[in-house]
Parts: sequence; C-alpha cells; structure tokens
Amino acid sequence: MMRKPLIAGNWKMHMTSAEGCGLAARVAESCVGLTDREVLLAPPYTMMAEVARVLEKSSVIISSQNICWEEKGAFTGEISPVMVKDAGGSGAIVGHSERRQIFMETDNLVNQRVKGALRFDLLTILCIGETLEQREGGETNAVLEAQLRRGLEGVSSSDMINVVIAYEPVWAIGTGKTASKEQAQEVHLFLRKLIAEIYEKNIAEQTRILYGGSVKPTNVDELMAQPDIDGALVGGAALDAESFGRIINFE
Ligand code: G3P
Repeated sequence: MMRKPLIAGNWKMHMTSAEGCGLAARVAESCVGLTDREVLLAPPYTMMAEVARVLEKSSVIISSQNICWEEKGAFTGEISPVMVKDAGGSGAIVGHSERRQIFMETDNLVNQRVKGALRFDLLTILCIGETLEQREGGETNAVLEAQLRRGLEGVSSSDMINVVIAYEPVWAIGTGKTASKEQAQEVHLFLRKLIAEIYEKNIAEQTRILYGGSVKPTNVDELMAQPDIDGALVGGAALDAESFGRIINFE
C-alpha cells in the first residue's frame, strides 16, 4: 500500500489567534494543487476553531496538541475528542516528548489518550523518542520499543488505519541538531519491523512514520527521500510561512 506523506506543523504554545489565522491562510496557499501529500496543523486550543474556519476550503487537517480520553467530565485543563471535533479538528498529537518530560506523562497515560482519540476516530499521532543520554547509552531501540508497545496497547489492527507514529529524538527537538538521514531511516525501519511484529506486515506497510526534530527547508528533501520516512512533524520551522511552505513542497 502506498503511504501518503504527511507534513504536520506543531505550533506548540506560540502565537495569538490573529497571527495563527494569518499563518494558516499562508499555509493553505502553499498547499494549493498538492494532492500527493497531506498537511496538518496543530494550533493551540484557544485558536483552533478560528484557524479551522480559515482552512475550511482547504484540505489541511486540524489537530489538537494533546487529548483527553473522555467525552466530558471533571478533567480540569483537558480537552475532549468531542471538543476537538466541535472546533473543526480531526486529529490529535499524543505523547509528545514535552508532555512526557515537562508534564510527566507516562506511557500508561499516553496509551489512554491514544485509545480515547481513536474511539472518536481522530487521526492520532503517537510521538516517541529517546533522550541523548539514552542514545549515548545504547538504549535507543529498547526505549522506542517500550514506548511504542505501551502506547499501542489495546489498539486493534483496524484502528491502526488512524494511527501515525512520529519518531522525535528528544536531542533533536528545537536544538538545530537533526538526526542524519541514515540515523532516522535506521530507526524508522526498526519501528516498521516492530509494528509488523505487533500486528502484521500489511499494517506496518500502511502505517505512516513521521520524523520530527529540527526539520528545515534545507534537510527535508533528504529526509523525505528515505524509504521509511513518510513525513515530518515540524515545530520551529512551522511557525514561519515561507519555511513551512518549502517543507510542505518537499521534492
Ligand atoms: O513536534 C515537533 C517537534 O517537537 C520538533 O520541533 O522545533 O525541532 O522542529 P522542532
């Protein structure tokens, strides 16, 4: 099965609504005529509905940056899948390393979030990645395997159609240090084999695995040329219309 590349922009905790709407409009312009790839934007919750309205006529997917597993209830500070849909969203990022590291989100919590997002048919981007210490200690594969297996616990083969994996080495996020294309490809291949082991080969072949960590206009082409890299999850460069436009239009 052909995997359609996905370029995702994670705006993290940046911008006002007006700035976000302006950027979204420019992203929509950069997407005109592109049918061989998908583009996703994850704005802060406060501007999600407004950004969605700006993107109404485009094919850009709107995603939340995190998600709760319940439809509603006493979950102060959380946002439910129903609310994301109500705001025009159809995707959710889960398990970002900033959630894991700064907000102490565990694999178990991440797994609950993944299952919640899938129950409401959201395109679910499960982020995993090793720290520099873990890489230097030779633990990369073990760490990623544990994060992937625990994150996907209880997720059925049929739900995997809505799952995207994002490999984001923590040491490459916002540091300007990108994993080399060889390093990234090696990990992506490892992850694909693991998905085949957990599910089956055709599920592994259909699952998109994105790379994230200092993706820029200058390195996107070589990363996207790797056979197991199916897209990018972009932070810093997604805040600049010109840079993100170039990344979307990778060759
Ligand atoms: O989710 C995207 C991410 O964490 C990568 O950020 O700024 O290194 O592109 P950045």
